[in-house]
Amino acid sequence: MHIKISRPEPVFAEKLDSMFGVKDCLVEISPGKVLLPPKYEDIGERIVNLEIRPDDVWMVSFPRTGSTWTQEMIWCICNNLDYEAAQTPFMFRTPLIELTAVMGNEEGKWKESLGNSVDIIESMPRDKPRFVKTHLPLELLPKQLLTVKPKIVYVARNPKDMCVSYYYYCKLIHNLGATFDEFCDIFLANKAPYGPIWDHILGFWKLRNEPNVLFLKYEDMKKDHRKAIIKAANFLKETLTEEQISSLIEHLSFNKMKENPALNLESFLKIKNGPEYESKDENQMFIRKGQVGDWKNYMSPELSERFDKWTEENLKGTELTFDTV
Ligand code: A3P
Repeated sequence: MHIKISRPEPVFAEKLDSMFGVKDCLVEISPGKVLLPPKYEDIGERIVNLEIRPDDVWMVSFPRTGSTWTQEMIWCICNNLDYEAAQTPFMFRTPLIELTAVMGNEEGKWKESLGNSVDIIESMPRDKPRFVKTHLPLELLPKQLLTVKPKIVYVARNPKDMCVSYYYYCKLIHNLGATFDEFCDIFLANKAPYGPIWDHILGFWKLRNEPNVLFLKYEDMKKDHRKAIIKAANFLKETLTEEQISSLIEHLSFNKMKENPALNLESFLKIKNGPEYESKDENQMFIRKGQVGDWKNYMSPELSERFDKWTEENLKGTELTFDTV
């Protein structure tokens, strides 16, 4: 067995249970001390042993790094910018392999409609490339990713904005009942779901020069979207005309994506919260603000300094840097 499952240290276990309002809400998975819902036990070994296909395209990231934005870019580039087919919600076009575990603590019949996420990936047709999304770190991903070497796109984001975004996401989707500062405490202690984040990011940063790996940063995509699209197209060995690039920039623009029911999780939120559900508050939206530097609206100078110190310590000697403004 590759995976070992234990309880987080009691002090964190209690804190997490009270924050998410669920008893024994997260287990600690090794290798990696990764925190995930206990349902992960049912699929963890299957994911590690999953058969990788050479023409797979994997989209890997820590949550809230702009992975939906990146995955839509990748999918569109590889599918001849078929905007009609792109009307199918992204979770069917690029399923999250561990979804069954992630939704394991949620209540409600709607969960059944999601099926088993590993079965879904395994049964995807072989006559065209499979697009797979995951937030799992390298240690828990299929071993064959390193031998079969399919295309892997990794996206990273500065941890301050990621943490703000993750906080609101956990409130929206996983009923998190904690203050922002409480959430930051567990995030900085590497005890947030899917944590620890630095091992996650650095695991792929170390692979960035492999020809089958594209390492992107959210802030670079924001700074020069055209350049990011061209870089991704080159990596995917696809050629786009200037006109196609412009149309893709438009399709992927924040405002377009926010309104796009295939990408904004609107239908999922209506199933989860009832058909009347409609939110006008941007913090209660899956596609929320889309900015670099939003952390300034939420972090005190002391908290910001803790993030800076933590980032500096973990990135020392790696040559990886993040823009935060
Ligand atoms: P914010 O919460 O800071 O707005 P993920 O898809 O990995 O869950 O990442 C979600 C983050 O990406 C959210 O960040 C979301 O708003 C942002 N995002 C989604 N689409 C975007 C776009 N087209 N342009 C910029 N940011 C986008």
